[in-house]
Amino acid sequence: MQKRQLLIHTERGRGLFRGRLLHWYDGHKRDLPWRMSHDPYHVWLSEIMLQQTRVTAVVEHYQRFLKRFPTIEFLARSRLSSVLAVWSGLGYYRRAHMLHAAAKKVVKEFGGKLPARPGRLRTLPGIGRYTAAAIASIAFNEPVAVVDGNVKRVLQRVLGKTLTGEELWSAAERLFSRRRSGDFNQAIMELGATVCLPRRPKCLLCPVLDLCVTRGAEGREEKTADQKKRKICYALDCQDGSVFLVRRPEDASLMPGMWELPEICVPNREPKTWMTFRHSITITDYLVGVAQGPAPSVKGCWVTKSRLPKLPLTGLTRKILRAAKII
Ligand code: ADE
Repeated sequence: MQKRQLLIHTERGRGLFRGRLLHWYDGHKRDLPWRMSHDPYHVWLSEIMLQQTRVTAVVEHYQRFLKRFPTIEFLARSRLSSVLAVWSGLGYYRRAHMLHAAAKKVVKEFGGKLPARPGRLRTLPGIGRYTAAAIASIAFNEPVAVVDGNVKRVLQRVLGKTLTGEELWSAAERLFSRRRSGDFNQAIMELGATVCLPRRPKCLLCPVLDLCVTRGAEGREEKTADQKKRKICYALDCQDGSVFLVRRPEDASLMPGMWELPEICVPNREPKTWMTFRHSITITDYLVGVAQGPAPSVKGCWVTKSRLPKLPLTGLTRKILRAAKII
């Protein structure tokens, strides 16, 4: 233990760490669409979509989004409702609001080009310390280390220390490779996402196992607190090729301005529903019932099937309408 501890805390150990990690990344990185390009807009979009969202969900949305909004200028000129429509299903819609606002600012203040420096990137809505460092290093090769949840876990295990706040950023900077900034940052995140896993790290596949102080023996994260459970019921009223939908209030804290089916009261006994789903939003697992039939008397609109794809529907509404073969 003592010997390993010394090695990773020396310049030689850090050099070995960088070399092994980068070599492993070159041979094992996942083939992800945003890795085919260093276009700053593509990198920015992927980093925003990857916040709190699984890679598989992002891949599909990323490609669709770029087809629909191919440049920052195009995005800035588009309506927020069409941006939300393409974002539908990815969740955390505040990200789409901020991406759209940031695109407008990039056009107005930076001539349509994302700035390279982290400090300038952070003046844009939705770009914090992590995202600024990721864009600056991956798109512009700026020498700045990133820290996200995966990097934090890798650093703590490799160094055998609990690290918080600024200590984490300094530890990341010390291990960082300035020679290949963007690749190094992606490599350490990739190691955390695919090998140095929270509960069952795959240490036998790890390229830096012999430099690691804990070798996965510590820092196995506890399961996160239990999700809350809720039942919810919606009315699906479809007549003459139109569906009855309601719009969420502009000031709603979740998914403001988006369209969904009208909610109905959940009866005490099991509702007589036509379809049931499970759906999770942040920390709540919903058991969703859908009853076919007239909607309650709430303010809403009949929307023709052909208009539905252009409307910002909530992810759950899209799921229900797909299952009902309406879209
Ligand atoms: N997580 C967020 N962005 C990432 C990237 N570019 N590579 C690997 N993991 C990531």
